[in-house]
Amino acid sequence: MKKAIITLSVIGALGTGLLLNDSHDSHQDEHHGHGHGHEDEHAHVHEESTKAQIALVSPIPNDQDYNAPLASLGFTLFNDPKLSSNGKVSCASCHNLATNGAEITPVSTGVKGAGDRNSLTVFNSSLNYRFFWDGRANTLLEQLDGPVENPLEMDSSWEEIETYVLGNTHYKEMFTGAGLKISKDNIKLALTEFMRALNTPNAPFDRYLEGETTALNEQQTRGWNEFQDQGCINCHRGVNIGGGLVTRFGYFGLPDNAEEETSAKSNMFRVASLRNVAQTAPYFHDGSVESLREAITIMAKVQLGKELSEQSIEDIHSFLQTLTGEKPQILQGGVNAKN
Ligand code: HEC
Ligand code: HEC
Repeated sequence: MKKAIITLSVIGALGTGLLLNDSHDSHQDEHHGHGHGHEDEHAHVHEESTKAQIALVSPIPNDQDYNAPLASLGFTLFNDPKLSSNGKVSCASCHNLATNGAEITPVSTGVKGAGDRNSLTVFNSSLNYRFFWDGRANTLLEQLDGPVENPLEMDSSWEEIETYVLGNTHYKEMFTGAGLKISKDNIKLALTEFMRALNTPNAPFDRYLEGETTALNEQQTRGWNEFQDQGCINCHRGVNIGGGLVTRFGYFGLPDNAEEETSAKSNMFRVASLRNVAQTAPYFHDGSVESLREAITIMAKVQLGKELSEQSIEDIHSFLQTLTGEKPQILQGGVNAKN
């Protein structure tokens, strides 16, 4: 436990360091460092800055590279409530595949009808660098123990799940079909393979990054520029526009409604991925904020110490809509009818 806390604060320190280094000047350095030195003389300031920033964000790869039989086995496990202690809660109970891979309630409810965290979406989760709201798990495989063993979630164990799967003829066929024997490790492998198949590529912003400049309209382009100029990109970056850093929530104070957090020793959280963010309300780890505009306002205030203008909030809001991608391929067509 102690070790985990130390690791988090080191990462926190790195996060802060990164922020300090990411002043506008160092963006200039980066700009030259990456050799984008040959823009034509008509280039606008924003176009230049966009070129420099593109190195900080990247599109979701379009090729859905996963093992299909294994992922479809994972799909079946994901939807199976028998994996939980009372036979009623599946992964899909809290991660709705028909909507956004998460759920719309502020906090999740597990086998005992109570929970303490807003569910994270499983869409694009395999592209995150660390897992859970506080970044405590290092790999997707490691995070799997969380929901399975958490008494508030599925309240089960891999031993119990293995015994159940071993006794089920349908699973026997599916494992044989995927060329695997039934074991705890292979059950986890199937679940993680399914999650690797849950990417949502081809968002308008991805197409924009790939050179289709008309994929963003005028307001959305202004919003993207604001997102960079205001400093959101210092934290929300990488392929998931977040998901790769653990930082303090509230460098400049806490949101007004966050009383419970003031007593918390550290307030370290993973920078949330903004992929599909227009569809993943409510916001923040406690699901306390329903409106995306309000989430943007709070972020500017507590992470950047800034009061944004109405126009700027509207523009960023409109840019964030362009991060909504296509439904994962594996859920298109007949597959999600099973859900
Ligand atoms: C009772 C509700 C519930 C159930 C059941 C549940 N989850 Fe979750 N899941 C959550 C919540 C809440 C979080 C965020 C927890 C946190 O950060 O502390 C989460 C986080 C995750 C994440 C992390 C995403 C990220 O970006 O870090 C993944 C992946 C995930 N769950 C997959 C699964 C799988 C696979 C199962 C089934 C084995 C499952 N979940 C079952 C509620 C649930
Ligand atoms: C210092 C780092 C940092 C900066 C700068 C920052 N954010 Fe965040 N952002 C975070 C963290 C950390 C979270 C997760 C907070 C939590 O755990 O509830 C987050 C969460 C969010 C969320 C909620 C996502 C969700 O699914 O709940 C939105 C929306 C958001 N940020 C937008 C922005 C915008 C827009 C800006 C610029 C005005 C910005 N952020 C600047 C670190 C940052």
